[in-house]
Amino acid sequence: MAATRPIAALATALTIAVPALVTGAPQAATITVACSALGIGQRLCREGAEAWAAGSGNTVRFVAMPKAAGDQLALYQQLLAAGSGDIDVLQIDVVWPGLLAGYLADLSGRVPPGTLDAHLKPLADNATVKGRLVALPWFTDVGLLYHRTDLLARYGRAVPKSWAELEETARIVQRGERAAGRDRLWGYVWQGRAYEGLTVNALEWVDSFGGGFIAPDGRVTVTEPPVVDAIAMAAGWVGTISPVGVLNYTEEEARGVFQSGNAVFMRNWPYAWPLANAADSPVRGVVGVSPLPAGPGGRASGALGGQMLAVNDNSPNRDAAADLVVALTGPTEQKRRAIAGGYNPTIRALYDDPEILAAQPFVAEVRRAVDTAIARPARAAGMRYTQASAAIRDAVHGALSGRQPAQDAMEELDRTLWRISRGGRW
Ligand code: GLC
Repeated sequence: MAATRPIAALATALTIAVPALVTGAPQAATITVACSALGIGQRLCREGAEAWAAGSGNTVRFVAMPKAAGDQLALYQQLLAAGSGDIDVLQIDVVWPGLLAGYLADLSGRVPPGTLDAHLKPLADNATVKGRLVALPWFTDVGLLYHRTDLLARYGRAVPKSWAELEETARIVQRGERAAGRDRLWGYVWQGRAYEGLTVNALEWVDSFGGGFIAPDGRVTVTEPPVVDAIAMAAGWVGTISPVGVLNYTEEEARGVFQSGNAVFMRNWPYAWPLANAADSPVRGVVGVSPLPAGPGGRASGALGGQMLAVNDNSPNRDAAADLVVALTGPTEQKRRAIAGGYNPTIRALYDDPEILAAQPFVAEVRRAVDTAIARPARAAGMRYTQASAAIRDAVHGALSGRQPAQDAMEELDRTLWRISRGGRW
């Protein structure tokens, strides 16, 4: 395919070839896969794709992706807009199908009938854009609160049900532990870097206070008191119960601090569970998980995250690529990934699987949480979601870092979103 490929060299430089075990089939294809890596995601993806290659006589190659969601999206947009067929299978975030649909192959005729019906509804709904099946759900994410069972017991504290309780417990434990010489101990770690993950964290605070950034009808609601109050609350954590460095944390930095034993609480996705309990983890056996705390009105909110697999419409091997997507998103792979990596299935039936339930005790809770999880305003903002999300996280980051009071940051954000949405019309 003759296409301009401005960063093809980069993609090639990052590519590691992994030959299939079975070779020689005349029409065998080489499928290049981009799967991103939180925790052991990259390794699991590679194992699954290699198993498919061995069984089908094809070959798979992998492109290393940047860790932060936004950087990955930028790379995809550059490649896809240039008409590149370099990557055949793309891991995409649940908030991207609308943005990328025009570049993705319609999988409708390429997957067994009924495939989508087996998946949880919020994820399945996301996979179809304007009547085209542009991806298959791979795993689902919900924001969770991790805590240290040993530290809570030492200070006689319960798992916090509200943000106010979390703040109080974080303060008490942090003070006590530091007085005992553990001076690197922090109360609460989360994702505060100016990237998609901050939009997610902020949405959880704001929703738990009863507010929102963009209403389903497109109205911008960021100056309403619950929004301002929620952001002001989080700004108060920075430098008190959370290290100032949290302003540069993504999921993996937060996990690094928590897993090395230096935080009482952590907000993260389910993938952190098996890692925190791995044989070499300093906090193995002393970690608990619960829903995120509630705001003043008693509402608790976890954001809906997750990933899907899609096929590049410019791929020279769309059928083989779709076959790989079906294999990776199918029940056998989803089960393996759930047990080994804490990647929660999107296939409903797997939530009754005894082996998955044994590996991840809170999986039933995740299942319930998915139905009530708050979605980012990706539908309301449509093609302008990336811009809207960037404006939200930058404004929130400004308030968190003390550059502006929360009220001023939200007023400025209101004007920015108004502009991006052309007066709320999106
Ligand atoms: C996880 C989620 C994704 C979210 C991202 C934010 O990868 O699956 O939906 O956008 O985290 O960092």
